[in-house]
Amino acid sequence: MAYHSSNNLILIFDFGSQTCHLIKRRLRDLGVDAKLVDPEIKIGQIKKLNPAGLIFSGGPASVYQKDAPAVDKDIFNLDIPILAICYGWQLIAHLLKGKVVSGRQEYGPHKLKLKNQNSKILQGAKPQFTVWLSHADTVVDLPQGFKIIGSTSQVKAAFVINPDKRIFGVQFHPEVEHTQFGTRIIKNFAHLICGLKIKPKTIDIDQIIQKIKTQVGHHKVVCAVSGGVDSTITALLIGKAIGRQLYPVYIESGLMRLGTKEEVEHIFKEFIKIKPIIVQAQDIFLSKLKGVSDPEKKRKIIGHLYIKLFEKEAKRIKGVKFLAQGTIYSDVIESKGSKRSSKIKSHHNVGGLPKKLGLKLIEPLREFYKDEVKKIGRKLGLPPEVTNKQPFPGPGQAIRIIGSITKQRLAKQQQADKIVLEEIKKAGLYDQVFQSFPIMTGIKSTAVKGDARVYGEVVGLRIYDSSNIMTASWSRLPYDILQKISTRIVNEVPGISRVVYDITTKPPATMEWE
Ligand code: XMP
Repeated sequence: MAYHSSNNLILIFDFGSQTCHLIKRRLRDLGVDAKLVDPEIKIGQIKKLNPAGLIFSGGPASVYQKDAPAVDKDIFNLDIPILAICYGWQLIAHLLKGKVVSGRQEYGPHKLKLKNQNSKILQGAKPQFTVWLSHADTVVDLPQGFKIIGSTSQVKAAFVINPDKRIFGVQFHPEVEHTQFGTRIIKNFAHLICGLKIKPKTIDIDQIIQKIKTQVGHHKVVCAVSGGVDSTITALLIGKAIGRQLYPVYIESGLMRLGTKEEVEHIFKEFIKIKPIIVQAQDIFLSKLKGVSDPEKKRKIIGHLYIKLFEKEAKRIKGVKFLAQGTIYSDVIESKGSKRSSKIKSHHNVGGLPKKLGLKLIEPLREFYKDEVKKIGRKLGLPPEVTNKQPFPGPGQAIRIIGSITKQRLAKQQQADKIVLEEIKKAGLYDQVFQSFPIMTGIKSTAVKGDARVYGEVVGLRIYDSSNIMTASWSRLPYDILQKISTRIVNEVPGISRVVYDITTKPPATMEWE
């Protein structure tokens, strides 16, 4: 009989995947404790932790790379079940004398066909379903004792099993929401293979509030607010914990959506009952961004400016010790949240902080994903028009204008943005799509308006579905809505020659263009 640990614990070997924390999240939702560990963890330490199962994450490395992360081979003699994802699976194949080859890339959705469904790990799955892949290397020869149970059109060994050793290898990512039966596979692994009890967990809001109370004591907190879901819920939680010791600050950078300042004032009056401090800073943002076209530089400039202005504001109020931000987990991971993950973008509320910040940080939502944050908001009584608000990036329209930003391009971007939102709302689609916005592409093309040639800028349209930000697919909007948006932008926004629709999934493309 297979050995089962009595510990409600699965260790996640973090090879640097962008979705590593999502594995932890899936397990947490099932009531299973999960701990991220460095792959070089010593065997003795694994034994001490006594986990019921191991999950090897994906990661950006190739097994052939110098210094590619690896594990101690003795791990395969511990009689602990292993679910190995993407790089994790390639590593197992490599270590156990299978063969991995480079250069057979697949990104995004693919069909997985199962050969048979005898394994418990497949309980409840259909014979064919959609999986998401994001890989450059592929296993072409299996190590001894492994057999294929599912393939995609490109990858034969997309789902493999070694029944004796209870090792499962998947080339796809079961942890992402766009993989059908992905959560089911992780649940089956935890419950049916590792023998863990499943008891779905709920978020303890009182505990979050209590933690803030203890952390802040009698001090004061300035909270950076933008009118978005994350910062509003952060402010609400802190407000519940410390009341009038909270000072929400909204910086009018001029880079936000039109009407944002008024929305912030309304939300705080209605739901948080504290008047926010408004700092007018449009001119300084535009002047610092003048001539800057590198996306990372834009982010850094904006991030530093925000922090500088918050620090300045904090100095005006006696007794402020903390700066609160609405950072959520996807911000952290995409700004290089773990030792081995690649840096994708410097999300300004994470990457732009100075080393010597004069204030201590409070980020009560740092461990949560977007859908969890919305749940917290709803439980706290916020209405759908607040909790269902589309996320908006900290650097605002600056990363939706490719190339350098001028007052004129910003005005065009904001006008086009207003049109997109109006039409999406009018069509009743606002709550269905995750984000929708235009991009000033910086490319020029020819149009004919009123018999005259116009050589104007091309606007890109990015509208997509997602729930936790790590993966996304473009929204299949009715053609007549797309047509309406396109017609209105070309007609109403001066100097625009055409509108194109972005039909790229994430991965590989990020949601924002910069
Ligand atoms: P990407 O483009 O990385 O976007 O797929 C994921 C989510 O994050 C938002 N985003 C940002 N948010 N600072 C932020 O606060 C940033 O620099 C930033 N870049 C992207 C983006 O709008 C999407 O919701």
